[in-house]
Amino acid sequence: MYNNIQIQVNDHTALLEINRPKNLNALNRETLEDIDHAFQNELLNDESVRGVIITGAGEKAFVAGADIKEFMHYSQEEGLALAKWGHGVMNRIEAFPKPVIAAINGFALGGGLELALACHFRVANQQAKLGLPEVSLGLIPGYGGTQRLAQLVGKGKAMEMILTGEMIHAQDALNWGLVNYVVEQTDLISKAMELLEKMYGKSSNAIAAAIKAVNAGLSKSEDGFSTEMQAFGDGFGTPDFKEGVDAFLNKRKPKF
Ligand code: HXC
Repeated sequence: MYNNIQIQVNDHTALLEINRPKNLNALNRETLEDIDHAFQNELLNDESVRGVIITGAGEKAFVAGADIKEFMHYSQEEGLALAKWGHGVMNRIEAFPKPVIAAINGFALGGGLELALACHFRVANQQAKLGLPEVSLGLIPGYGGTQRLAQLVGKGKAMEMILTGEMIHAQDALNWGLVNYVVEQTDLISKAMELLEKMYGKSSNAIAAAIKAVNAGLSKSEDGFSTEMQAFGDGFGTPDFKEGVDAFLNKRKPKF
């Protein structure tokens, strides 16, 4: 049914695997559409599903970002539209009434980290590297990262990650509160399952209400999100974006 994701349900837990390993699970539009569709249909409506784990296929990456090759020729308007649509997908995951855990099995970069940030919390393997490298492409995060990262790790550390574009290791992510646990790869999914199973012993209505209440307390005016979307779209009109993408595709450092 889906070209880019696989879903397996076992004992109340749905494991959603993003399955484009040759592209390090980069989120092209179709992949994010698959994820959105799965959440709003089978994962929401299947009463046997009480929790969701999102992970990436292969040994290297959770998700290495939005698909740069897909958006490389976008105009400012198309960039803004991508961010607006993607914000909707991320907001729906954040508001999902059943618990959603990101199991980060390697690179979680750009839109990939932003997807993990939209989940209710995160566990990572020891090799995981997390970052928002969009400034290297002449862009900024566009799936809510400027807002959710700052909420989670505080403004200073978020600024450092977003402005340097550097990746951090799993252990730093743990120390910063960006992930809740770091475990061996072989234990990654079982750790996430163990956490979900603790919730299955509790009231699912209360869990849905708690998710709603925590999210409500952190939701501000829409200004930050709107600013991000507009600035993300504007990036597509700059020479820096062309230089950044060309450098990426030609495996060289950009000259800004
Ligand atoms: C498209 C990608 C990709 C991406 C990797 N690939 N990341 N394709 N979009 N985000 C592809 C590579 O082009 C390559 O394809 C294959 O996956 C393997 O990647 P390599 O670069 O060869 O692997 P490696 O040398 O191990 O380096 C891993 C990496 C690097 C450090 C993760 O791939 C990387 O820097 N990727 C881009 C990360 C990034 O900038 N993410 C943010 C994107 S912008 P070929 O065909 O060459 O084998 C974003 C915006 C979100 O996410 C907001 C949107 C609104």
